[in-house]
Amino acid sequence: MEPVRLVLSGFGAVGQAFVDAVREHDALLQIAAVRGRGTEVFLAPANEVPERFLWEPIGRIEETLDRAGAAVLVQALPSSPEAHGRVLREAVAALRSGVDVVTATKSHVLSQWRALERAAEEGRSRIRISGATGAALPTADLARVALRGMGCNALRACPNGTSNFVLDQLSRGASLESAVLEAQRRDIAEADPSADLSGSDAATKVRLISGLLWDWDVSRITVKTEPIDSSTSIRALAAARKGLRLRAVAGASLDRPMVVTVRLEAVAPADPLYSLAGPEKAMVFSCPEAGDITVQGGRSSPKGAALAMLKDVFNLAVSPNPGFR
Ligand SMILES: NC(=O)c1ccc[n+]([C@@H]2O[C@H](COP(=O)([O-])OP(=O)(O)OC[C@H]3O[C@@H](n4cnc5c(N)ncnc54)[C@H](OP(=O)(O)O)[C@@H]3O)[C@@H](O)[C@H]2O)c1
Repeated sequence: MEPVRLVLSGFGAVGQAFVDAVREHDALLQIAAVRGRGTEVFLAPANEVPERFLWEPIGRIEETLDRAGAAVLVQALPSSPEAHGRVLREAVAALRSGVDVVTATKSHVLSQWRALERAAEEGRSRIRISGATGAALPTADLARVALRGMGCNALRACPNGTSNFVLDQLSRGASLESAVLEAQRRDIAEADPSADLSGSDAATKVRLISGLLWDWDVSRITVKTEPIDSSTSIRALAAARKGLRLRAVAGASLDRPMVVTVRLEAVAPADPLYSLAGPEKAMVFSCPEAGDITVQGGRSSPKGAALAMLKDVFNLAVSPNPGFR
């Protein structure tokens, strides 16, 4: 069998980790082209990505996909306003032309959910977003495939490692500033932790999972968040004195369609969100007949995101064996 040919758009931390991960599977997968911000390079089978000065000026995505013979476009571009137009254009062009898309980039998925779905319908192609929904935590597959028919009617989650870590530090008496600095020192928090502390990152992940689970239009979901701020320490300490833990819980439910909330909740030891250690993440899916199903763990790192994308590529493009697998 010929290896499946991929175009990788974005060669930062996640893109480079993806190249490393694919290298271990070069009989099955081949990165045929890599696109940076202004340049791109085409690769022969088993070739390393060459130095940047050997790359050529970037062309239209349609030409790159065509010349590379791509079956899948893998997106690891920033989710920033500056990159948004390009991210959306590339995904729509690929999907319309029958090329599947696997993305760690969130911006277009959040703002153009239905437009991407329409492009995929036109091209009879597919889009997978595991890398955008909590890196190695496999919640997207649970929502999309594994819980089908189980009647899941609500989800509660702590999908943001930084907020879990910071709240635990506050409950031990640390100030917000020192808790954030400690999270940054341990590479848990990014230089700018505002999306973690405001609840917007947790809300984003629950929006995406709600779209997969209930076919909500992710771009139109209302978000209500309660931030972690200087007043939170008192609540974290008060919860700890009662044997509880303060968590930033993101939730959505069929009782309140198209609404995602993030609230600071003092959770009891019987709650699956109580026992998360440090930056660990978890999501609890409530299924009335099947019971609560919790998924927990998974690394939040460029490598974790790259492995989530590799898994999506495998599931989309590498033919399954007959039998159980
Ligand atoms: N880091 C994580 O742990 C993690 C986890 C899950 C998901 N993600 C998501 O994965 C995506 C990639 O993350 P990353 O950390 O690899 O990003 P990054 O290191 O900032 O990489 C950015 C890549 O995109 C290119 N680029 C930068 N600005 C651009 C612009 N305005 N227009 C077009 N291209 C631009 C860069 O080009 P040059 O190489 O030419 O400079 C580089 O190849 C992000 O959307 C992020 O949210 C990250």
